[in-house]
Amino acid sequence: MAKDSLLPEHSTHRRDFLKMTAGVAVPWILPSSVFGAFAPSNRINVACIGTGNQGSGILKRFLENDDVQVVAVCDVNTASYGYRDESQYLGREPGRKTVDDHYAKKSGTAYKGCRTYIDFQEVLACDDVDAVTVVVPDQWHAIMTIAAAKAGKDIYCEKPLSLTIGQGRAMVEAVKKYDRILQTGSMERSNPLNRYVCKLVRDGKIGQVKRVFTNVGYNNKVGPGPGWKPMPVPEGFDYERWLGPAPKVPYHQDRCLYRFRFNYDYSGGQVTNYGAHSNDLAQWGLGMDESGPVEIEYIRAKWLPEGSLFNTALETEFLCRYANGVELICATNEKPVGVRFEGTEGMVESTAYGWQARSEPASLVESEFPGGKVKGDATSAHVRNFLDCVKSRQQPVAHAEIGHRSSSVCHLGNVAIRLGRNVKWDPVAERFPGDDEANEMLLRPMRGPWVL
Ligand SMILES: NC(=O)c1ccc[n+]([C@@H]2O[C@H](COP(=O)([O-])OP(=O)(O)OC[C@H]3O[C@@H](n4cnc5c(N)ncnc54)[C@H](O)[C@@H]3O)[C@@H](O)[C@H]2O)c1
Repeated sequence: MAKDSLLPEHSTHRRDFLKMTAGVAVPWILPSSVFGAFAPSNRINVACIGTGNQGSGILKRFLENDDVQVVAVCDVNTASYGYRDESQYLGREPGRKTVDDHYAKKSGTAYKGCRTYIDFQEVLACDDVDAVTVVVPDQWHAIMTIAAAKAGKDIYCEKPLSLTIGQGRAMVEAVKKYDRILQTGSMERSNPLNRYVCKLVRDGKIGQVKRVFTNVGYNNKVGPGPGWKPMPVPEGFDYERWLGPAPKVPYHQDRCLYRFRFNYDYSGGQVTNYGAHSNDLAQWGLGMDESGPVEIEYIRAKWLPEGSLFNTALETEFLCRYANGVELICATNEKPVGVRFEGTEGMVESTAYGWQARSEPASLVESEFPGGKVKGDATSAHVRNFLDCVKSRQQPVAHAEIGHRSSSVCHLGNVAIRLGRNVKWDPVAERFPGDDEANEMLLRPMRGPWVL
């Protein structure tokens, strides 16, 4: 078990944050030229919580903006390989280096002012932090988001917004209660081609929508089978803090970095991982951003042998029926993540994460996007949308309710496939009517001291 080295480490880094000038410690101040025309009063100070596979990229997207100063990074892993690709060397220290190098280059100084933290609660206690990114495994999303909202921070929280439907609802209510801005990391909402496709559908350009197909990919990692042996916790990795509210279980590298998405204690498999994108587009096109289906049919699921470290579905298929009769079929297949809407007068589909679209008749898409293609970087635009909303206090394109409802579609599918049967859903009460077994799955017990 990793030792709790929080305070010594934190205070060390605190000293790093202070530059020694003639024996007097002063904080690193960046020249105003680094921020272009943005006065300090118009800048957003950001702390990035989670600097792994996705968090390291999101951090860079924030650094692209002159009206942002990334003041701190927080991660329970000091630094290591073993993320999505073996070549990725990520964690707290690489995150700090990215920030320091960025500002050193921009300011022409030897800037070393990015603070580092292991404990996100210390980040939230910082008065100089306006907004945080929450780019950590899903078992942490609700706890961190609610605590951040309470601490008065705006939040960029990755998809799937929640680990369970109950947690997602609590996140939405906290964001409302504390009047915070939350952007869900569903960056396909900031892609103009997707926006156009979903609007076509809502505007009735394919007639009355009958069916929607969404896809989720196969697992891209293989975990150990039954009888797997625990491993020693690597030095510099605070496993206890990584687990947080999840059950206390022996360490194995395939449980944690990147691979957490294949274990229900921390996530929901590819149904929530990829489904949070594809089902989000379906909800958008159907105009269901603040609602959801009323019935979920279990179609099929394939599982690994009992006792395998990965326990989420290997393959799955479920059908969500909306009150107006529209059917959404979500299935595992080889296709790139995307969505296909079929209506009485045509069809439109957006694939390859929304960089390509096709319609019947073809002119529906091609009149606006020749070749059905678009280029760009939706993530940068998505982060920019969040920053603009932090300033304007308008709702971002993937606000909390949207993120919650899109994640809910995935969670509903997981409930049906885990129970191996159909379930009814009341999208207003957010309950399974008369179904105690399914309602039990709306929340998961949290290991203390963590509570929702
Ligand atoms: N929007 C997208 O397209 C997209 C893509 C990939 C991942 N994601 C989402 O991002 C989140 C993270 O996924 P990932 O692939 O980056 O995982 P990852 O394992 O690569 O990175 C997560 C990081 O969080 C750190 N961490 C864990 N618990 C922490 C805690 N209590 N405090 C601080 N740091 C902690 C880990 O040490 C790790 O470095 C997930 O919710 C995932 O679904 C979104």
